[in-house]
Amino acid sequence: MTEPSAQPPTEQMITEITNTATAELDSLQDLEAIDQWRVLYLGRRGTLTTVLRGLASLEVDQRRTIGALANQVKNTLEERLEVRVRQISEEALTLSASRDRLDVTLPGRPALEGRLHPTTQIVREICDAFVAMGFGVVEGPEVEWDHYNFEMLNIPKGHPARDMWNTLWVDYEDPTGEKAMLLRTHTSPMQARVMENREPPIRVVVPGKCYRYEATDATHEWHFYQVEGLAVGEGITFADLKGTLYEFARRMFGEERKIRFRCDYFPFVEPGVDMSIDCFACQGEGDGCRICRDSGWIEIMGAGMIHPKVLEGVGYDTEKYTGFAFGMGPERIAMLKYGIDDIRHFYSNDLRFLRQF
Ligand code: FA5
Repeated sequence: MTEPSAQPPTEQMITEITNTATAELDSLQDLEAIDQWRVLYLGRRGTLTTVLRGLASLEVDQRRTIGALANQVKNTLEERLEVRVRQISEEALTLSASRDRLDVTLPGRPALEGRLHPTTQIVREICDAFVAMGFGVVEGPEVEWDHYNFEMLNIPKGHPARDMWNTLWVDYEDPTGEKAMLLRTHTSPMQARVMENREPPIRVVVPGKCYRYEATDATHEWHFYQVEGLAVGEGITFADLKGTLYEFARRMFGEERKIRFRCDYFPFVEPGVDMSIDCFACQGEGDGCRICRDSGWIEIMGAGMIHPKVLEGVGYDTEKYTGFAFGMGPERIAMLKYGIDDIRHFYSNDLRFLRQF
């Protein structure tokens, strides 16, 4: 690289500068280095500019010749600079285009697709089966008063049947000291709520979440769904109850599944029954089955004719109206339908389980 000269410029000096500058420029590979080159040769204090300044000390004749040569060299170097900048920019562009190339033929990444939770699917299926039989669908509160969860269902304070529902109580200070709040243990409180607000004939199903202070196992969760059913009108009998539930079971499980009614006790029905389906896991054979605990049957719902005290409680004429009610666990129904061996899969948020539905 040639240092700026303080001496009067000569033709040879200019030729040397030209050769060196040109060779350097051709070897540079990036725009930053090129800019440094521009400052070094063509800048205000650059080599060539200094040479041009030295022209003043030359004789007139020489000044004209050498001045013309220096100007020509300056123009040439400026032109070469421009060409080199363009070349390097184009090279960089080509390189980045080939590196960041968009391959439109690559297969796309599939977007994750959501779906309805298996409980939602089965709840809808259950409701659809009853809607097809003329039932409507209503919903009610999950945080409920003791009044509806128990008292209106013929389970007064201190009644031993309260122990059947392991209740989660809500910390609530009632100024009158009479009202107690809880997480509903079943969907049955909606029986009283619906009847209070409507006159018979009534036919509704009530899907919703329930909570119990309960140890979990393969068939018990502490939070689960129920679908309640309620039919009230003139001349409704136990035969209507059985016929409706048989029809439901046929729609859900097909003709081949066996159904069993047994007497059961619920304070809000009389008579009361539980309905079971034969165990899908052991086909009723037992022998260490953890689903039916060797009984061969899986209970899916409680049911019965609405107790006259419940009808009286909502102001219905018990001489005129009768009705039936039932309450089932959709998760257990899904277990039966899809052969799921543990109810805890439903709410453990494992996509390997959920993606199967
Ligand atoms: C009741 O809750 C009554 N309210 C049902 C009823 C309604 C009877 C109307 C008569 C008239 P039970 O506690 O048996 O009954 O629960 C009903 C269904 O809910 C059970 O058959 C079962 O399918 C489901 N179930 C109950 N407890 C659990 C639990 N811990 N985990 C999952 N499912 C449950």
